[in-house]
Amino acid sequence: MYWGSRLGVVLAVAGSAVGLGNFLRFPGQAAQNGGGAFMIPYFIALLLVGIPLAWAEWSMGRYAGTNGFHSAPGIFASLCKSKWASFMGMMALLIPLMIYTYYIIIEAWCLGYAWHYLSGNLNLGKDADAYGEFFKTFTGQNGNGTAVDMGQTSVLIFVVLTFVINFVLIRRGINKGIETFCKFAMPLMIFCAICVLIRVLTLGTPDPDLPGQSVAGGLNFMWNPEWEALARPQTWLAAAGQIFFSLSVGFGVIINYASYVRKKEDIALSGLTATATNEFFEVCLGGLITLPAAFIFLGTAAGGFGTFGLGFVALPNVFSAMPYGQLFGFLWYFMLFLAAITSSLSMLQPVIAFFEEGLGVSRTTAALVLGGVSAIGSAFVFYYSANLSALDNIDFWVGTFLIVVLATVQSVIYGWVFGTKRGEEELSRGALIQVPRGVFFILKYLTPIFLLIILGMTIYDSGPGYIDNIQNDDVARRSVYLILAVAALLLVAIGYAILRWSKQGKFDWPDN
Ligand code: PFF
Repeated sequence: MYWGSRLGVVLAVAGSAVGLGNFLRFPGQAAQNGGGAFMIPYFIALLLVGIPLAWAEWSMGRYAGTNGFHSAPGIFASLCKSKWASFMGMMALLIPLMIYTYYIIIEAWCLGYAWHYLSGNLNLGKDADAYGEFFKTFTGQNGNGTAVDMGQTSVLIFVVLTFVINFVLIRRGINKGIETFCKFAMPLMIFCAICVLIRVLTLGTPDPDLPGQSVAGGLNFMWNPEWEALARPQTWLAAAGQIFFSLSVGFGVIINYASYVRKKEDIALSGLTATATNEFFEVCLGGLITLPAAFIFLGTAAGGFGTFGLGFVALPNVFSAMPYGQLFGFLWYFMLFLAAITSSLSMLQPVIAFFEEGLGVSRTTAALVLGGVSAIGSAFVFYYSANLSALDNIDFWVGTFLIVVLATVQSVIYGWVFGTKRGEEELSRGALIQVPRGVFFILKYLTPIFLLIILGMTIYDSGPGYIDNIQNDDVARRSVYLILAVAALLLVAIGYAILRWSKQGKFDWPDN
């Protein structure tokens, strides 16, 4: 099974990368960590780990794919030439699966907001508090189990709808599902985002009494460098974390997608194009829309909203104050929904591929089983909605901590087991651009060191707080149990897959 075209795989990987991280997470992170100054650690992380690791994932994935493996356990076994390495692949299944359980809920909020804009329910006038209340009630933050409180317009309907759309698309497979959808969704996203961007950049100074709250003021607020931030380790951590999250590197997604690329086709330029596309969406669209718009209408108060507050409370306030706000509100949330769905599909695919190839079941069965498991996880996140605590805990353990662990493991395997020589060969085969040799040096030495430092800092910085949480907070503890239970299930499944693959002779490595 292969991608239909080079454009198709680039759009699929870019679709995975461009998501809520670009439009909601990035502006918040940049604003809190030094504004324009944030871009320095951000670009260093992009050059030192983002692009090199993305290339490493493309190379390892394609290599293993041509050896007949598409799922992380098989890919790791094939790279290390050891069947036991399959167990390491567990992380590359657990991460996308667990992230899916909460990402899909946020995706459903976007769909819900798009619908409520279209139907006029979000025309709440210029009452700043009303939007905060709407968001809290809609997402069930006032208490566990309250996310169904809105009855007919409850978020549950959108969660179910989002789930169904994801599984219908993923069951259709790589070409007919993911590739076809991304080819249509990516251009549409650019169109919607540019409409909103033009609207924001032409707002001028809407309130003559507040001349500072203009487009220029908004851009200045977002991008004005606060150099002191560079001295804080937190800034560097945030920048590296943002690069991983945004590029979908360290999630087990790119190795899977790349395994469906033909042996002689380019991956070097494809990888770079997907990365560049993500950066365009993140810096040029995400960075110019969300926060500047919020500042124009809300002034410096815009900086006080968290990631979700910015997207779901500050922006509705902005739309309420601008001409044609209802239309632009709809376009914005619909665009976010599209961005999210092309990402959530990429979280399902690695696990489906493993069920198909490791357990020998059909794609439909694989989709149904995965649907069941992920529904349990999402129900957990949906129920424990007070202060979004389940979401927050799973995001920390999986989306912040485990991804750095996996990225570290991958970079060590690439640099020291698979080897940069083979890596370079793989990346160069069919390449349409020449990758500078320095990249392989970076990958062998600098990337693992950089990652180990980030890992150590993450543990030092947030570890104690979260361990404390586990001891004192039931939801935090249950979140960890849930993650461990899914990990255990995956390990058992991998054990079974190893037995199957051994019998089939899939571990009789050809000498290449
Ligand atoms: N890169 C996506 C974003 O920026 O929103 C998030 C993401 C995609 C996370 C795929 C995990 C994943 F497997």
